[in-house]
Amino acid sequence: MSSSASANAAELALRRQHQILDHLRGESHPEINPKTTISHIAIYGAGIMGSGIVQVAAQSGYQVTLWDVTQANIDSGIHAIRTSLSKIARKTGQPADWVQSILTRISSTTDQLAACASADLVIEAVVENLSIKQDLLSHLDTVAKPTCIFATNTSSLLVADVAAKLNDERRQRTVALHFFNPVAVMKLVEIAYMDGTDPALLALLKAWVLDIGKVPVLCRDTPGFIVNRLLVPYNIEARQLVERGDATIEDVDTAMKLGAGYPMGPFELMDMTGLDTGYHIMKAWYGAAPGLAKDPRFKPSPEMEQMISSGYLGRKSGRGYYVYD
Ligand code: 3HC
Repeated sequence: MSSSASANAAELALRRQHQILDHLRGESHPEINPKTTISHIAIYGAGIMGSGIVQVAAQSGYQVTLWDVTQANIDSGIHAIRTSLSKIARKTGQPADWVQSILTRISSTTDQLAACASADLVIEAVVENLSIKQDLLSHLDTVAKPTCIFATNTSSLLVADVAAKLNDERRQRTVALHFFNPVAVMKLVEIAYMDGTDPALLALLKAWVLDIGKVPVLCRDTPGFIVNRLLVPYNIEARQLVERGDATIEDVDTAMKLGAGYPMGPFELMDMTGLDTGYHIMKAWYGAAPGLAKDPRFKPSPEMEQMISSGYLGRKSGRGYYVYD
């Protein structure tokens, strides 16, 4: 491509992005009822994020199917949902059958294709590994309805890469819907879009996010979108402070809670989100992320490698920067 042709392409892409933002900025789209388009949602991955997304969707009246590789994973996801719902029921004084009434909207299966056959929206929240996500979505593409929207809850990968093996029509219906941990509590969902994404699809998804009681923000398809692009370097700086021996884990956490008003310190937060999650993000960015590859900030340190290989993944494994019962 000549330099003037590539400048034109870049200008076109920018103009399209501005059109999307102009179309969506400040508009609440009260005319869109997402339930007329989306009634059945298939969610892939019963881990912390997947089960949290299942919960908030079912709580808001959607029929949800949860898929995972093993029944044990599904059982553990459903157990987490039941625990979280019971906590909310106690706190908000719901009637005795409230938790069960939500659980009846959730079905589950280990059959990958059956889970999405009648879905209007697929959200994948499987392990943060590009080829696993690509293979999963291209497999689902063979049976999903042509109108079905595909979404990835990736923390670090580009939507364009996750959608790379999909046909053109499906790729244009693929976005990121990025939730935050704990999903039941955190109000934000990032919607990340590619250059060719239809603004009408974004308007529908904004309405859907509002319908499940969350607040949407839009972001172009860039590594880490908004939150992780800022949060990951912050976590890395915190770790480096401790690795250099400048301060203790406890003092860094106390400092950020009491000095910056954050609800958790960075080490408490990394333990909650999982050290493996942060590790996969850093490896992906250091390896190949546009503008970030080979940036030494994102090269996992030997101390971090050691924690991962020892299985110190945070709360979920009982030990991370802190020890948990
Ligand atoms: N389900 C239901 N309710 C829950 C819950 C759950 N899983 N977890 C917490 N809650 C409720 C509690 O019942 C409590 O309700 P109340 O205030 O009405 O009593 C409220 O949330 C606060 O919980 P706690 O009192 O137990 O504890 P805290 O006040 O410390 O709050 C927290 C916990 C909400 C996790 C808060 O510490 C926080 O906001 N931390 C920061 C979390 C964060 O930054 N998340 C984003 C991580 S990045 C990410 O997820 C992206 C990914 O790609 C890596």
